[in-house]
Amino acid sequence: MRKLMLFLAPALLLSAITLAQAPAYRNKALPVEKRVADLLSRMTVEEKAGQLNQLNGGAFTGPAANDPGQKAKMDMVRKGQVGSMLNITGVAETRTIQELAVKESRLGIPVIFAFDVIHGYKTIFPIPLADACAWDPALSQQAASIAAKESSAEGLHWTFAPMVDVSRDPRWGRVMEGAGEDPYLVGVIGAARVKGFQGDLGNNNILACVKHFAMYGAVEAGREYNHVNVDRYNAWNFYMPPYKAAVEAGAATVMNSFNVFEGIPASGNSYLVNDVLKKQWGFKGFLVSDWNSFGEMLEHGYAKDKKDLAMKAMNAGSMMDMETRAMVAEIPALVKEGKVSIKTLDAAVGAILTMKFRLGLFEDPYKNCDPVREKQNVFTEEHRRLSREAAKRSIVLLKNNQATLPLQKSANIALIGHWAESADDLFDFWVAKAKSEAYLPVTLLQGLKNAGIKFNYSKGYDADLKPNVQLVDDAVEKAKTADVVLVNIGISGKLAGEDRSIAMPEIPSTQIELLKALKATGKKIIAVVSAGRPLVMTEAEPYCDAIIYGWILGTEHGNALADVIFGDYNPSAKTVMSFPYAVGQIPVYYNHMNTSRPNPTDGQGNWYSRYRDIPNDPLYPFGYGLSYTNFSYGDLRLSKNTIRKGEKIQASLSVKNSGTREGEEIVQLYIRDLVADQIRPVKELKGFEKIRLAPGQEKTVTFTLDATMLSYYNSQGTLVIEPGVFHIFVGSNSRDVKQATLNYE
Ligand code: NOJ
Repeated sequence: MRKLMLFLAPALLLSAITLAQAPAYRNKALPVEKRVADLLSRMTVEEKAGQLNQLNGGAFTGPAANDPGQKAKMDMVRKGQVGSMLNITGVAETRTIQELAVKESRLGIPVIFAFDVIHGYKTIFPIPLADACAWDPALSQQAASIAAKESSAEGLHWTFAPMVDVSRDPRWGRVMEGAGEDPYLVGVIGAARVKGFQGDLGNNNILACVKHFAMYGAVEAGREYNHVNVDRYNAWNFYMPPYKAAVEAGAATVMNSFNVFEGIPASGNSYLVNDVLKKQWGFKGFLVSDWNSFGEMLEHGYAKDKKDLAMKAMNAGSMMDMETRAMVAEIPALVKEGKVSIKTLDAAVGAILTMKFRLGLFEDPYKNCDPVREKQNVFTEEHRRLSREAAKRSIVLLKNNQATLPLQKSANIALIGHWAESADDLFDFWVAKAKSEAYLPVTLLQGLKNAGIKFNYSKGYDADLKPNVQLVDDAVEKAKTADVVLVNIGISGKLAGEDRSIAMPEIPSTQIELLKALKATGKKIIAVVSAGRPLVMTEAEPYCDAIIYGWILGTEHGNALADVIFGDYNPSAKTVMSFPYAVGQIPVYYNHMNTSRPNPTDGQGNWYSRYRDIPNDPLYPFGYGLSYTNFSYGDLRLSKNTIRKGEKIQASLSVKNSGTREGEEIVQLYIRDLVADQIRPVKELKGFEKIRLAPGQEKTVTFTLDATMLSYYNSQGTLVIEPGVFHIFVGSNSRDVKQATLNYE
């Protein structure tokens, strides 16, 4: 023992001396707040402004404006003028830059590497909109955690996801990135994704970024970067809940949106950032602008120059500056002139440094990433298996007349449609690092081959979707010799993502002509639809005996579709956005207000709020999706018909699998507040449960309702509950429900 002490003493002494000499912020035994305070006390105002600077280092994911070039950027890293970089990936690349930051900058503050890891890194999962159709938060969480595992292995620390913008407009290309039109469901899924990405912030995790704060999903006419016009009442009730849920789930960062709220750009909106996000919700992480959203205050007509916009962003509570480079340039002068207080600056820089400490970057700036881990953790068999699992759970069966599906594996099939063979069109804009030969998605054609299916293939249409009689004729010939036609319609995945708004989200006319010609053969037609958004299916629907909505499903796209087509998996997904009957109906959503003149159910009479040429209702409502089995619902019973503050009641009904296959059903709970001080929607989702039933099996599904579920936000953002009558609905989608009445006293 004595010998050991003698041996250890000099070492202990040495490390004690080193610790004493090392600045406090290097001492990992100290609490993070102390380390942050110590580091702040050593930083110049210029270095602090540098922490607010986020530079693009790779491919542009926004307009390239006055890019300073690689050499200048590296010099800035050396000078401690860069807090974070985006679009740099890979162990080698991130390491090189991190070395400059930690070895050559005065205080050695590491850089955070960020990237849009939206639905996978190299193993791609279904687009988030499709994944949400599984109504399975655990599944969404798992997809996010695998994306984190792969991207962290390649040197990344931070993703710009999840997007939790509620959207009712399939013209907007970014609906693919969210979880649909319902504030509650988007919040539940968003929270799950946050947890999946972040885990415990270990080496296999990355920081999440809740975006786009706030109300970006309400861009007018679904046009990207467009104006938003939402009042506080609608903001609080329809758009804010998911941001709040994701922040409460522990999101480390939040992104400002491009749009304005109440006439003020979100990046400079003190009500949104200081009052709501920080004060009301207690958000302790840091904010990042969207790409040049600080700079775009000029275009909005809200700031007169770079200095003005930097001041406005900073004083509104915003922090990190993606690609405007205004903070790094203007903050020192603004502080000197007293236009930005040192307290405001320290709060912002402190929040960023806190995350760097929490990530452990001061202990290991490389987070243990090396080429071996990069190889072992990325695009593994296991990740692909889980991606296929998620993909099949995301597929929505919209129509299945006379049990056309599932098909026998021995069926004589004509496979038609260019999308069925074009891997290139099965990836959307956000596929991180999967855009190379090695990571291409499995097409439907390949998926059928993998399942050992024999078929005859014909293109039917080209990628340009121009009318082509020859292609249609060839498809018809193939159809004639088959028992059944499997036709892949829809639009290219390339039309899903940022800057991909389209005015006509519908089945292209070339494909309608193709469907007509195929139908004329008298064969059964099964349509598989590829798209990153709900498309108007009204014209196509009558020509199809069955419709599978196949979205853009990621790496395992074709394999997952084959699982469903041949019944190896019984579909269970349900829509999370209403499918419009016609483009002119958009926005169409289930949780609308009643209006003063609701359309009567028989659609007769005059002077009602309705169209003269089409129905008011969407073609497929929110929450809709079929199974290869049938579920029948019993009557809804409440444990009590009156509820008071603090009380709980049960709403239950029986659900029976009345078909012949085992299947899963998503049972949904909605409410309606009949009279309120501020009017309420005709239905609001309040809960759901996914159950699995064997053929003939019956189960009682019980939802517990507490009084807070009956509350809503007033225009000040305060939750209120008012006495009165409520309808409670439970059903298989937002249209087909059982109803009961509840009084709140
Ligand atoms: C702009 C997009 O709006 C945002 O969602 C994305 O994270 C950034 N560009 C970075 O690529």
